[in-house]
Amino acid sequence: MANSPKDTAAKALKKTVAHTAASPPETAAAETNAEAAANDVAITVTVNGRQHQALVEPRVLLVHFLRETLGLTGTNVGCDTSQCGACAVLLNGSAVKSCTLLAVQADRAQITTIEGLATGGVLHPLQEAFWERHGLQCGFCTPGMILAAYDLLQHNPSPSDEEIRHALEGNFCRCTGYHNIVRAVRDAATKMAGRAAAAGS
Ligand code: FES
Ligand code: FES
Repeated sequence: MANSPKDTAAKALKKTVAHTAASPPETAAAETNAEAAANDVAITVTVNGRQHQALVEPRVLLVHFLRETLGLTGTNVGCDTSQCGACAVLLNGSAVKSCTLLAVQADRAQITTIEGLATGGVLHPLQEAFWERHGLQCGFCTPGMILAAYDLLQHNPSPSDEEIRHALEGNFCRCTGYHNIVRAVRDAATKMAGRAAAAGS
């Protein structure tokens, strides 16, 4: 049935009222966003050899900055309690849980994520060893495991199994493939020592 001019006018009036009613919250949201933007902090970080400058909210965690701002989703979030280690990255060469740091705390830092470990398309010995030794099942914990192991091997190039287990105790594998993870780290240590010796000879 066709609308009368009176009905049409009434509908138009309702739309106008609905629009007007929506305006105050929208304005409040815009003001909140503007306030948040005014508090943003400028940071410069070098991630996987590439420098990035960004404005970040002071409350943003490093892991969220890496994943959502830089798109480096190899760094995982596995808990809300800083326990699982899935979010481990190298910060100035040391493994850290990137869910326990604010992005602003990483200002001027050098960061390596799992995406930055291979060189020129060639896997790092740790990545090779995890592959060869089946050191992963679902793979969710693997980036954090590999970067924590990388930190260990920098300080202890020939760790015992006990030392490997101790170094990785902050990293949980929900698939519980710990034996193969330890074997992979041990193999990687052997590979790295062999390559270092070959390079030195
Ligand atoms: S997500 Fe960082 S420790 Fe679990
Ligand atoms: S391989 Fe699945 S959580 Fe470790």
